[in-house]
Amino acid sequence: MKIKYFKALSTFIATTAAMVLFQNCGNQFLIRQDLDQMNLSSCDNALEHVFAEKIHPFLRTNCSACHIDGGGGAGHFAVENKMIAFRDFMSIGIANIARNATSNTHRPPNTGSHHQATVNQLVADWSTAEQFAELCKQSQSQLDQQSSTAGFLTISRPLNNVLRTNWVTISWDLYNDALQAWQKSIIPAEFRIELRYLEQAGQIIGYEFRNPQLRLNSMQSIALRGLWISINSQRINDLTTYRQINTTITTNGAWINLMPQVGNAFIMRQTNPTDQISVKFEEIKMLDRPAGGTTPTTAITYNDLIGTDPTRNVFRSSCLNCHSNTLTRGGLNLQDPTQARNAATRILNRMQSATNPMPPGQQLPADRIQLVQRWISGGLQ
Ligand code: HEC
Ligand code: HEC
Repeated sequence: MKIKYFKALSTFIATTAAMVLFQNCGNQFLIRQDLDQMNLSSCDNALEHVFAEKIHPFLRTNCSACHIDGGGGAGHFAVENKMIAFRDFMSIGIANIARNATSNTHRPPNTGSHHQATVNQLVADWSTAEQFAELCKQSQSQLDQQSSTAGFLTISRPLNNVLRTNWVTISWDLYNDALQAWQKSIIPAEFRIELRYLEQAGQIIGYEFRNPQLRLNSMQSIALRGLWISINSQRINDLTTYRQINTTITTNGAWINLMPQVGNAFIMRQTNPTDQISVKFEEIKMLDRPAGGTTPTTAITYNDLIGTDPTRNVFRSSCLNCHSNTLTRGGLNLQDPTQARNAATRILNRMQSATNPMPPGQQLPADRIQLVQRWISGGLQ
């Protein structure tokens, strides 16, 4: 136990040191244009920093005679474009690069043992960054586990139809496409986002996103915040842009852009036709009633419950999106006064139920439930 604790502590110190190190790298170079916006919990940034700040300049100086487009060397890790250089560097691997860089036979005098000390330092920096990224991913996956029940997650959709120039739209019906069974049949809304391949110098280097939109299919309002995107069930922490979403939607039936002011967001990664995308909202919930109004004192009638007075219309604001002429969940249509009156006791029971409430998910505030109680005690007028 003690040893474990000590190990954890020293790893923590190492991580903190590494974080300070990477934070202090400055941002004159950036692989992703939005790197300066990204916080350091986005794990692979550490690797990109070391590559960009230290390894790339070395490769540019010593290897760019050949390891560029048309230069004849295998792998274009010495091109000026850091994104492409990084991608090729990653696929060849630091070990091969270090071996050839210090090789007296590869391409002397560009390569050779005179680089040994420099290369050792680069390898050490890289290895620190790798450890940092690894720790970062571990703590991230712990965080993911902790928060996996807290947020609202969708099922995954295939990304096999993504294009280079044209945008494709991926959408989810949040009512049916919740990943966790207990989150189904609660949010009467659809979400969609557009994406395409991110290209740089003719090469696909990731995904680009725009227009995250929500369409509410309810007369109730909906509040949501914090959108995350996952590829292959791995949350993309670099994509911090949509995390800032924090809004309430009151319009029924229209697509609303959740981040109208913001340009396209993108992530750099190896893409694969088998990739799957899913999204998660840190929080999404139906708001139980329209704003304003005081508790009414006069008798409550059926017409009040389905009417337009927001202080009385609990059926309209909280039930009709699922129990109406057009959608009769559980076989119940509250727009039919006879059905509503016949079901009155069951309605009250379900609204008061702690384990299986109506609307699903969370009990309404007591004063909203009281409207139905008063309707019943007043003789179901
Ligand atoms: C004068 C041209 C030239 C220079 C300079 C040069 N290389 Fe190369 N390199 C090549 C060629 C050509 C190949 C492909 C086959 C071979 O000769 O090894 C290659 C292959 C490699 C490979 C193997 C790639 C693979 O896919 O496994 C590595 C690693 C490498 N070079 C690293 C370097 C590094 C690091 C530098 C700079 C410090 C460098 N080279 C400088 C021409 C060059
Ligand atoms: C998001 C959709 C949704 C909303 C909103 C909703 N319900 Fe339901 N309701 C359902 C579903 C689905 C069922 C069937 C499954 C079940 O019984 O849990 C159901 C079943 C019921 C039943 C049981 C059927 C019956 O005839 O006894 C009652 C009563 C009921 N709802 C009342 C209400 C009332 C009252 C409200 C508003 C205060 C409401 N519901 C809001 C989806 C919804």
